[in-house]
Amino acid sequence: MKKHLPRTTILLSTCALLITACGGNSTNNSPTNATNTTNTSAAIPIGIAVAQTSNVALLGQEQVAGAKIAEKYFNDKGGVNGTPIKLVFQDTAGDEAGTINAFQSLINRDKVVGIVGPTLSQQAFSANPVAERAKVPVLGPSNTAQGIPEIGDYIARVSAPVSVVAPNSVKAALKQNTNIKKVAVFFAQNDAFSKSETEIFQKTVKEQGLELVTVQKFQTTDTDFQSQATNAINLKPDLVIISGLAADGGNLVRQLRELGYKGLIVGGNGLNTSNVFPVCKALCDGVLIAQAYSPEHPGEVNAAFRQAYVDEFKKEPPQFSAQAFAAVQVYVDALKALDNQSKVNTLQLPQLRTELNKQLLAGKYNTPLGEISFTPVGEVVQKDFYVAQIKMEKDGNQGKFAFLK
Ligand code: ALA
Repeated sequence: MKKHLPRTTILLSTCALLITACGGNSTNNSPTNATNTTNTSAAIPIGIAVAQTSNVALLGQEQVAGAKIAEKYFNDKGGVNGTPIKLVFQDTAGDEAGTINAFQSLINRDKVVGIVGPTLSQQAFSANPVAERAKVPVLGPSNTAQGIPEIGDYIARVSAPVSVVAPNSVKAALKQNTNIKKVAVFFAQNDAFSKSETEIFQKTVKEQGLELVTVQKFQTTDTDFQSQATNAINLKPDLVIISGLAADGGNLVRQLRELGYKGLIVGGNGLNTSNVFPVCKALCDGVLIAQAYSPEHPGEVNAAFRQAYVDEFKKEPPQFSAQAFAAVQVYVDALKALDNQSKVNTLQLPQLRTELNKQLLAGKYNTPLGEISFTPVGEVVQKDFYVAQIKMEKDGNQGKFAFLK
């Protein structure tokens, strides 16, 4: 049913769109904001709801970095046909309740045109329906579990799903060691993404004609993995595959090595961060992880993103940062395309959110991830995937992801 809004509501929503300061107290902590925004009163607010605190911030802080680089890059290029964007950050922390709160603040108080977030699929399954009901577009920057875009019409993602990404690392392990026969699989049973990813890993193991000798379960909050690791090692696996998040995954790698496991280890998407290095130190060495981004990807936008990241952080940009950049880019490019048809600052916020959602699903985007587009349901269409292997210095203090040829 179509609702007719009273004139005051229309004025208020227009005010909220044009003057982001209407919302007051947002937690925008972008250092670039003051310098980039030539006319802050007209900036277009885009919400960033990722984990800035908790263990999930091991992934979320990389997303904040990528989003901020995108904000500066696109505003320096003129924003949305001359109107700057303004990222509004709301910390989701690591759980579902924090994510729902962050989404509600961004939607109702900060009046964002769309949201990039959350960090975890586990959070997305709870919070995305809130945005769907409010008809606010959500772009998942890192949610890779099966079923995310299917949550609703307003939900899409730039993060390729486990089914597309995960098998690459198992194939890379088989290339490095053609004698692999027995495989032990571990997964975090309290995490939606880890459950989804392990299904794909287990399917891949069987498709490759390997023997799945054990499936060990843990929790993302666990720190002691002695019993699961011992159970697996007793079965003499040639390959261990882990689906978990950064802190638990890093601890599991460390304890497997301390207990004497010498074979290859494949880590899933939740371990795809150099923030695991302080957890497993020198024992992280050799872990294989599939990648949806390569710093070497050709093209102007990736060169600029990579340079900005290297200048700030003195290391190559990680996948989580590149995907967050790409998500912001999709909003900017879609807003530009929409603005070319009908000036976005003349649209009421509800209409703008709906039109933006349609527009973003229809576009093609030349991002640091390569060219991406979306299926009608909001699944990302992406071409290039990679596998990297962690290389640690002997002292365990420094390391990097070495991309395999
Ligand atoms: N890829 C992980 C998830 O979907 C971070 O939760």
